[in-house]
Amino acid sequence: MKSAKIVGLGKYLPPKILTNFDLEKIVDTSDEWITTRTGIKTRHVVEKNVSASVLAREASLVALKRAGLKPKDLDLIIVATITPDTQFPSTACYLQDYLKAKKACCFDISAACAGFVYALTCAWQFLKCGFYKNALVVGSEVLTSITDWEDRSTCVLFGDGAGAAVLVPSNRDGFLSAYLGGDGSKSELLILPGGGSRCPASLDTVKERLHYIRMKGNELFRIAVRIMVEAAQKALKRAGLGRKDIDLLVPHQANIRIITAVAKRLGLTEDKVYVNIERYGNMSSASSAVALCEAWEEGRIKKGDVVVLDAFGGGLVWGSSVIKWV
Ligand code: UT7
Repeated sequence: MKSAKIVGLGKYLPPKILTNFDLEKIVDTSDEWITTRTGIKTRHVVEKNVSASVLAREASLVALKRAGLKPKDLDLIIVATITPDTQFPSTACYLQDYLKAKKACCFDISAACAGFVYALTCAWQFLKCGFYKNALVVGSEVLTSITDWEDRSTCVLFGDGAGAAVLVPSNRDGFLSAYLGGDGSKSELLILPGGGSRCPASLDTVKERLHYIRMKGNELFRIAVRIMVEAAQKALKRAGLGRKDIDLLVPHQANIRIITAVAKRLGLTEDKVYVNIERYGNMSSASSAVALCEAWEEGRIKKGDVVVLDAFGGGLVWGSSVIKWV
């Protein structure tokens, strides 16, 4: 097989919505600050005890239905998440059980906001080499479970949600190229410090609020713009294409100002860039997954279009995929 293609997309956003005005009641912030600095107006948040696998299941059922594939026929399930149900088993295992996808191999990918792009690239390679006949790739996050509701510099940014894609091998077009990268030397810029083997959970780690996201937003902002531009350019080059060939850029939705700066540097007009950050905030791996699904649902992606995914996040990690839609 030459490549792989996406044959079904799905998304799920938990029904409860938190507005900027709601946040004004929790921390010292304002709708005006959040809107102008980030572009976010609302975000969806889970009710208690709703985990990443639950959101993943809902998104997956939609994607599988649209793909015309039965869960029992699934070969591979990859879930990209930094908010897994448990450290182990993987969220992909819980999803496999929910779906009764008994013959599927399942694993999680931890690549923060670039997780969906990393996971798609893995699935594409499994299909291209003939190892599997189909794959379910999901980005699912309950970021509100690791959000510090006393930290106004981060708690206004995040939301919960999931997006899913079903992939099958393709003899022509589909995934044309990808470019993935990382820089572990800058891990401190965006991190959840507590609870892992480096800093096991204890009463002290809880007291010090180490189980919440910590972010140096300003530094990340500058790196994000440069890296996302580079990643898209490198992925396009690998596909033998240039920025003029882009029909739709689907960027990670962390900040409207990052998206605008990336689009400007790539020379793209507004109509070639998909944006939904105002409704969902930053959902890490789920952002690209939900954005791709919505862009397709809204008719922004047509057969033959060149779609570029472009994501960046904690790690640091980044990735861009170039897809010719079939
Ligand atoms: O998804 C993975 C990748 N993520 C990113 O790449 C995120 C990149 N970073 C960002 O999007 C932005 O840096 C933020 C949205 C996080 C912050 O925006 P900023 O324009 O960089 O603000 P800042 O951190 O420089 O803070 C400016 C001011 C500060 O006050 P002073 O020191 O100037 O008096 C903050 O204390 O805004 C203050 N501030 C707030 N004010 C009201 C920070 N958070 C808030 C808030 N409400 N929620």
